Amino acid sequence: MQDRLEQIKQNFKKDIAGILTLESLEEIEKKYLGRKDGELTAILKILKNLSPEEKATIGKLANEIRQEIEGEISSTRKKIEHGANKFSVDFDITLPGKEVEQGHIHPINQFIEKLSNIFLSMGFEIIEGNEVENEEYNFDLLNIPADHPARDKWDTYFVKNREQKLLLRTHISPMQIRAMRDRQPPVRLVVPGRAFRHESVDASHETTFYQCECLVIDKNISLTDLVGTLKIVFQKIFDQDVKVRVRPSFFPFVEPGLEVDMSCLLCGGKGCPVCKHKGWVEMLGAGMVHPKVLENMGVDPNEYSGFAFGLGVDRLMMALYGVDDIRLIHKGDLRFNKQF
Ligand code: FA5
Repeated sequence: MQDRLEQIKQNFKKDIAGILTLESLEEIEKKYLGRKDGELTAILKILKNLSPEEKATIGKLANEIRQEIEGEISSTRKKIEHGANKFSVDFDITLPGKEVEQGHIHPINQFIEKLSNIFLSMGFEIIEGNEVENEEYNFDLLNIPADHPARDKWDTYFVKNREQKLLLRTHISPMQIRAMRDRQPPVRLVVPGRAFRHESVDASHETTFYQCECLVIDKNISLTDLVGTLKIVFQKIFDQDVKVRVRPSFFPFVEPGLEVDMSCLLCGGKGCPVCKHKGWVEMLGAGMVHPKVLENMGVDPNEYSGFAFGLGVDRLMMALYGVDDIRLIHKGDLRFNKQF
């Protein structure tokens, strides 16, 4: 009888260990203490048939075990009611896990990486610049003095008020001067980054867009170096010969200045909203660094010459991947971004 009682105690301990719901707790209570056929109740019922000696020892043990079982059941009930086991109750380990979505680098940044690698392979240094500029670097030191009509070409977002002379850079050319603050020729560098202009937005114009500024200064640099460099960069981007045309243009910080257009790859030159039905898309402004700007860099124009250009990064990316509206690049629409 004593062994049987010990067995009941062990079985009860095993049964109660994994109990998480009130329903299963009640089942256990019934199994051991049920009035009709609870395993312990059955023993308590036959106590009266035992000898007085047995009754004393077995009865004592049986009552201790009953108290233990009742105590354990009541404390488990409290735990369940107070939610101590709630997490375990709600957590179904058989459910499949939630798929973790993996992001990736934004398409325009992927393209900038591609472009940077091309320049790196040609021996260029890649540097970063500040997006908030001041008028001195964005205009004055680039030979665009205050009230010069050329400033109108870059509709500017000023930061806070005009007295502070802070603005969102309208192009990356100010980085030509900043980079030369701690460098000496020969230099070959590019600066990819964002520029900002207060412009009306259309298929090929955004108010925030990317440019890649390039600056080369050395002895005997000429326009042919500029055109040759551009040719190699275009070939490497597009992996094919693309049709470009070079037009004379005016930028106060270069002399001579030029603009380079690319035959519109989106419409094959037939005309579309991106090329404004001209068949050509303007890709960059360029030229030989103006002697005055070389002086502002601390470089002797009698000894050195240089070329510079500012590539329209978004437009190049559009041409490469057949994107027919610049707004798609900046919208943050995952249906677009996920295609890259
Ligand atoms: C400039 O910004 C000059 N700083 C470029 C330069 C650098 C000239 C060095 C000479 C020497 P421009 O405003 O033309 O130039 O812009 C250069 C290129 O940026 C354009 O050819 C075009 O591809 C791109 N771009 C200009 N404005 C926008 C815009 N609103 N949206 C998208 N791309 C633009």
